[in-house]
Amino acid sequence: MLILKKQIADAIGAAIAAKYPTATVEAAEIAGMLEYPPDPAMGDLAFPCFKLSRTLRAAPPAIAAALSESVACEEVARVEVAGGYLNFFADRAALALRVVNAVAEEGDTYGSPRCGEGKTVVLDYSSPNVAKPFHIGHLGTTVIGHSLKLLHEFAGYHCVGINHLGDWGTQFGKLIVAYRKWGSREEVEAGEIDELVRLYVRFHAEAEQDESLNDQARAEFTKLEAQDEENIALWKWFIEISLREYQKTYGMLGISFDSYNGESFYTDKMPRQIEVMREKNILTLDDGATVVNLDEYGMPVCLILKRDGSTLYPTRDIAAAVYRRETYDFDKCIYVTSAGQSLHFAQWFKVIELMGYDWADRLVHVPYGTVSINGAKLATRTGNVVLLKDLFAQAVEKARAITAEKNPNLENLDEVAESVGVGAIIFHYLMNNRMRDINFILEDALSFDGNTGPYAQYTYARTASILGKAGSAGKMCAYEMNEAETLLVKTLAAFPEAVKNALADYEPSVITRYILDLCAAFNRFYHDCQIVTCAEEAVREARVAMTAATHTVLGRALSLICMKKTEKI
Ligand code: ARG
Repeated sequence: MLILKKQIADAIGAAIAAKYPTATVEAAEIAGMLEYPPDPAMGDLAFPCFKLSRTLRAAPPAIAAALSESVACEEVARVEVAGGYLNFFADRAALALRVVNAVAEEGDTYGSPRCGEGKTVVLDYSSPNVAKPFHIGHLGTTVIGHSLKLLHEFAGYHCVGINHLGDWGTQFGKLIVAYRKWGSREEVEAGEIDELVRLYVRFHAEAEQDESLNDQARAEFTKLEAQDEENIALWKWFIEISLREYQKTYGMLGISFDSYNGESFYTDKMPRQIEVMREKNILTLDDGATVVNLDEYGMPVCLILKRDGSTLYPTRDIAAAVYRRETYDFDKCIYVTSAGQSLHFAQWFKVIELMGYDWADRLVHVPYGTVSINGAKLATRTGNVVLLKDLFAQAVEKARAITAEKNPNLENLDEVAESVGVGAIIFHYLMNNRMRDINFILEDALSFDGNTGPYAQYTYARTASILGKAGSAGKMCAYEMNEAETLLVKTLAAFPEAVKNALADYEPSVITRYILDLCAAFNRFYHDCQIVTCAEEAVREARVAMTAATHTVLGRALSLICMKKTEKI
């Protein structure tokens, strides 16, 4: 509807200029005021005139009446005045012809806002902490981050996906101690990350009884920092074991990264930035630690160096940002983490600004809420975690059982079960606004009937099956459509705006909800209209064309939120 919206906004602008020559109202401002009426009986777009009554110094109904006399545009069949509203009724046949043909012509580039050409976006997401479990708390950063990457790519941006691995820090001292005390090479090779997590959890349990373990861990980390050969070898091996595991999860999600430069990569890049902070005179001492005071900005100090001179999480982020800016010359650098880290990002973004980097305003933090499973919260240290891979495995198994029952003759059951199982989790997760705290219930996610991933993939497969039966992509024509057809066309027309909003708000859930709207509209159309069996040839062709358009747009929308397109379920 973006095109229609623009046409109408321009027409209203022209009418205002004609009727109220002294007033100036921007077309973009008008477009922002246009609303989608809740009930189609009230038109396809509505203009609330009260928003202009101040500027135009007139009562809303008077404005509506005056504008209605001279507002006219191509794709609008009629305009009605209803109190202070101007209601626009689209010329539906014209709209349908334009939209369905546009999808046929543009294919799966239909809906791209094309605003990213020549621009680069760096996205920092997933970024698990090596040797700690990759648990469902990371689901958010992984799927929101990757969807944002796909959305930006769709808009034409050059994207660089970075996995900022948590591969440095005192946890490695703990793991080295635990491994030497209670582990063995064979057990780690066999148990992989599970064994590392077991050692990590055991360390914390034993350290409760024996404080000295923590001192030993600190000592081992200090040795690691000093490049002790044996510790470095262990550290590299732990990372390798962990990455092997992450790759399996990323493989299931169809995710790969352009860079796995983790925190350790910035070790030699920090001194230069600390020097810049010195030059800018923003460093102060705070109880022995070196910090940037942010009182003036209503935030606690940003820690740069500990008492013992070692660097911290923010120090590494600052060095990483400068490195990325120099390496990729980004227009935007996006960080996706839980909302628990919002203060951390606000603080060091401010430090970047105080360091005099004029690109500080290109750093964007995208936070999200917490996740629990069946009501249970997560805790890494006690080992009470749901691992992402276990959640996926469980979902895939259930999806396999359901799919096998529905369609016993399916050839590629394994592949479909994985797409549906993993897709169910992604979809369920991305259905809500990212800031909302989510309680995950697997049963609900996997239902084929509710507003779920399997339902969306099933609808997609249905469009594929109809097109298979039709044998062609159909041909659109302008004709008097029924309500179900009109709704489908309007929903297809709404896709470009959904993409635009998802990008503007860094909110993949806009796409998820769009998918549900499109599925609902298509399934109603499927229920109400004969498609392949329609006796009237022109109408049959048109309905097949609408089905083909749905196939294209639904497929594109699913892939924008990291879901696989299942031609057959
Ligand atoms: N490793 C961190 C964690 O798991 C997330 C890192 C996010 N990215 C960053 N540049 N700080 O909490």
